[in-house]
Amino acid sequence: MTILFEPDRRWSGHLAPQLGPGVLTTSRLEDVERLLADQHAEPLVLFGPGTDAGLALEFAARQRVARPAVGVLLLRERLDVETMGHALRAGVRDVVDARDIVAVRTACARAMEVSRHLLGAAPTVGGQPTAPARVVTVFSAKGGVGKSTLATNLAVSLAEGGKRKVCLVDLDLAFGDVGIMLQLAPERGIADAVAAGDRVDATLVRALLTTYAPGVEVLLAPVGPSDAERIGRDLVAKVLAAVRTFADYVVVDTPAAFTDPVLAAFDVSDVHVLVATPDVPVLKNLRVAMDTLDLLGLRGENRLVVLNRGDARVGLTAADVERVLKTPITAQVPSSRDVPVSINRGVPIVVDKPNHPVSAAIRDLALGRIARQTTPRARGLRDRLGRPGGGKS
Ligand SMILES: Nc1ncnc2c1ncn2[C@@H]1O[C@H](COP(=O)(O)OP(=O)(O)OP(=O)(O)O)[C@@H](O)[C@H]1O
Ligand SMILES: [Mg+2]
Repeated sequence: MTILFEPDRRWSGHLAPQLGPGVLTTSRLEDVERLLADQHAEPLVLFGPGTDAGLALEFAARQRVARPAVGVLLLRERLDVETMGHALRAGVRDVVDARDIVAVRTACARAMEVSRHLLGAAPTVGGQPTAPARVVTVFSAKGGVGKSTLATNLAVSLAEGGKRKVCLVDLDLAFGDVGIMLQLAPERGIADAVAAGDRVDATLVRALLTTYAPGVEVLLAPVGPSDAERIGRDLVAKVLAAVRTFADYVVVDTPAAFTDPVLAAFDVSDVHVLVATPDVPVLKNLRVAMDTLDLLGLRGENRLVVLNRGDARVGLTAADVERVLKTPITAQVPSSRDVPVSINRGVPIVVDKPNHPVSAAIRDLALGRIARQTTPRARGLRDRLGRPGGGKS
């Protein structure tokens, strides 16, 4: 749980959306005390630049004794050595330039990691042990069939406006499109994990994510193909293991090939979303890919075949597709020119046109088939909230 204490509305309005989903903003210290009274995983209080430094330091000094797991950060418009010294001595974990949002996010991730260790090694939510995220890999054996379109829209649908934490990982390392499809600036991404080598952990990976919307964080592909070569199976395995500790769902977009990073994703995937279009070469290659996954023992818990653009009149029906693939189709996404229009606008169609038949099909797949089983993480939260289980079944 992250609380932003900031009396100046301009600062809270600027900072809160950039700190990710679920940040609570207040200008009353009583609210902070009340919120901290419940046991939370990774409790973190940020004192914004509009806060009196003395008040923040006094609060940090009190928490250091009363609740040592609570992380306190001080954000300032200008950093000076004297304030930093006083703050760190009082128990503030870091003093950060409020205008440098990357530094703020990195400090938050570091402080939360410390809190997690102080509360016990295993990640918890509300005192409940959490399960690792479900990993959903979107794959096809041919390019251009709609993998990235599906992956981005599935990620947004699964997050349901911030109800779940979804991390979208672009493993099309040479030619990743997720950044451009979501209009995200490629300031950081998986390539920055290369230098960390063995030190890749949740703190580092969190700092490399780019927020798209509440509940949707993205780990972007490198900007150029040359960086891609430095990212191997081991690194991807470590990155995915780290992401799984703090997300509810990890959606992986892939290139149309069994590259080492793709195999690392399949190794840990619970759900394989295999994308087909009604084209003979696509179907032939997808059947070969399914046989290869079988041979490698990579069956996942669920293999879902999605027929994209199955309504295009090209001489192959859905029944033909099922016959060639020897597998039933789980979902059909219609063909529509609104899909490229939404991509060119940089807004996923499920956001741009939520009632569109393409959006409805993708949302049904996400919430009806992928999010169907309740994860222990979600169960823990629901139990605490005293609500009945959600999701269709
Ligand atoms: N249901 C659809 N209706 C119409 N156009 C679609 C549909 N799905 C995808 N497209 C279009 O097909 C093109 C390829 O889609 P996308 O980039 O998602 O495929 P991909 O499998 O990720 O390709 P690559 O292998 O090159 O990464 C895009 O121009 C997209 O607009
Ligand atoms: Mg793609």
